[in-house]
Amino acid sequence: MTAVPLAELHCHIEGAAPPDLVRELAHRNGQDITGLIDEHGGYIWSDFDDFLGAYDRAASVFTRPEDYAALSYSYASSLATEGAIYSEIFASTDHAQRGGVDPVAYLSALAEGMQRAERDTGIISRIICTGVRHFGAEAINRAAAIAVDAAKEIQAITGFGLGGSEVAGTLHDAADAFALCGGAGLGLTCHAGEWTGPQTIRDALSLGVRRIGHGIRAADDPTLVAELAAKKITLEVCPLSNIVLRAVPSPADHPAKALYDAGVPLTANSDDPPHFHTSLARDVAMMVELLGGDDRATRAMLTRNALAAAFVDEQTRAQLLGKLDLALATS
Ligand code: ADE
Ligand code: ZN
Repeated sequence: MTAVPLAELHCHIEGAAPPDLVRELAHRNGQDITGLIDEHGGYIWSDFDDFLGAYDRAASVFTRPEDYAALSYSYASSLATEGAIYSEIFASTDHAQRGGVDPVAYLSALAEGMQRAERDTGIISRIICTGVRHFGAEAINRAAAIAVDAAKEIQAITGFGLGGSEVAGTLHDAADAFALCGGAGLGLTCHAGEWTGPQTIRDALSLGVRRIGHGIRAADDPTLVAELAAKKITLEVCPLSNIVLRAVPSPADHPAKALYDAGVPLTANSDDPPHFHTSLARDVAMMVELLGGDDRATRAMLTRNALAAAFVDEQTRAQLLGKLDLALATS
């Protein structure tokens, strides 16, 4: 039986860096990364804030555009090997600049690696430029301005989003950034309702965001759940990230099934795969377990939701949906 094709909307490219590669680049650069990687080759962190610090340290070893091209090529190719036909990555120009890499050279390099992966494997990829909440309002506005300018030259850039600590500042700090990027035709998404309650999700929606990163705490507010379902706001759920970071105490406490039953469009995503010992295929399997029901139909639904909400032109969306339908019909 043909496997159901997969699609991913939510993965931070710096968070997808394999620890072995980070160790190798740190060695090349003469950087000390003591305390970042354990003796089993896994990242070391203890809670969400500590994870954000580990993420920053891992990102700091990428000091050349070609490092990023190699990373996006290997990530997109590995997704294709898992059966994915579509991938969106979050790209943080702030992290690139902190490593001394020009932001446009960074985005061009990511796009070049993704194009090579498309040529070699067929996987189609897009870039969502991101601001980082705990880097402050000025950095968010700078990231948005870079995204809008770079998108004029780099066709793979189709979205803008916000990640980082949800308790840093308020989402209104990002109002101008979202207005600028939305006005330039970029798709908008925002991490919200991962750690904080339904109000952050309402705030994000009030800024024109049409997809929510995580969004699981919407489940605490039935009125908001009904609004998400009615407006078809897609949640980029990252179940293993939620469990490993302890945003939910255990799989039994994950609200995915309640949200699904209420009609909210859900997708499955890996977030920062090596940090959480996961992969897109594992997150899809976890989501299938959380939602129950028929395995194949659930997988097809998750991929269809991702393609429906993907930040792509309508011709590309039709092409991707055609690939999904063909795979389902020929199995
Ligand atoms: N950046 C990388 N991973 C993140 C997450 N899970 N939440 C917020 N910001 C992030
Ligand atoms: Zn994320």
